[in-house]
Amino acid sequence: MADIPFDQRDGWIWYNGELVPWKDAKVHVLTHGLHYGSCVFEGERLYNGEIFKLREHTERLFKSAEILGFKIPYTVEDIDKACIETVKAQGLTNGYLRPVAWRGSEMMGVSAQNNRINVAVAAWEWPSYFDPEQRLKGIRMDIAQYRRPSPETAPCKSKAAGLYMICTISKHAAEAKGYADAMMLDYRGYVAEATGANMFFVKDGVIHTPTPDCFLDGITRRTVMDLARKRGYEIIERHIKPEELDDFSECFITGTAAEVTAVAEIGPHRFTPGEITKVLMDDYTAEVNPKKGAA
Ligand SMILES: Cc1ncc(COP(=O)(O)O)c(C=O)c1O
Repeated sequence: MADIPFDQRDGWIWYNGELVPWKDAKVHVLTHGLHYGSCVFEGERLYNGEIFKLREHTERLFKSAEILGFKIPYTVEDIDKACIETVKAQGLTNGYLRPVAWRGSEMMGVSAQNNRINVAVAAWEWPSYFDPEQRLKGIRMDIAQYRRPSPETAPCKSKAAGLYMICTISKHAAEAKGYADAMMLDYRGYVAEATGANMFFVKDGVIHTPTPDCFLDGITRRTVMDLARKRGYEIIERHIKPEELDDFSECFITGTAAEVTAVAEIGPHRFTPGEITKVLMDDYTAEVNPKKGAA
């Protein structure tokens, strides 16, 4: 399955209110979302039959659209139901979901006041984002050339497709040099995030993480911070300068796709995955897996 291109797979995709055969879930080449980036999306994981923090993801999808100036023509409950229906139609118990909303083809220009807002949800099997062995040993990261833009330059709180343009460029540049990913700085030169995940560092048993004032405050980030607090770890959210990286002993990244992944290298800086990273990896795994009969 992994080698089959995404547009040629079998199954079902929820598309504007109904399940359609996977291969029929198409868009026209003259689609506003394709030409002008008027598109928002979510990435969610299904663990043992339950979508982790489904409602939070759906609410973020609606918020992302609102920030781009469009309204999803369904309720949050409808989209939650669509996600559950899609997973069922796909026969999945573990996997990844991709809800997406975009402006359609009625008008073709910067202005798109009358364009239909389309919504789709696809789900498929998707194992570890990074090589599972590397997840504990620590991935190697480059430092990206592009920076996360200022909130005055881009709608940085929206999970908008357009904001991923510099992520793909940065990830490709890193992969070309043999790295797994890249760390992006922000427009001020502070440490921001990875191309699809948030970042954490450890110094003297204390966790430090960049203040999410110009990038996504990830759902996994907040989950892991809650888990860390439950363990009694101190967490400091602050602006982190790249010159400080040598002061940290551990580094890990968090995201729906990446889950909790240890980092061994960022450019010239070295980290040793240690106890805090390992504890939070395990706590996250326990947290995302539904607690059957716990209630
Ligand atoms: C750029 C970026 N930052 C952070 C995250 C982490 O967000 P979440 O934990 O909600 O998946 C993601 C993944 O969605 C992302 O793409």
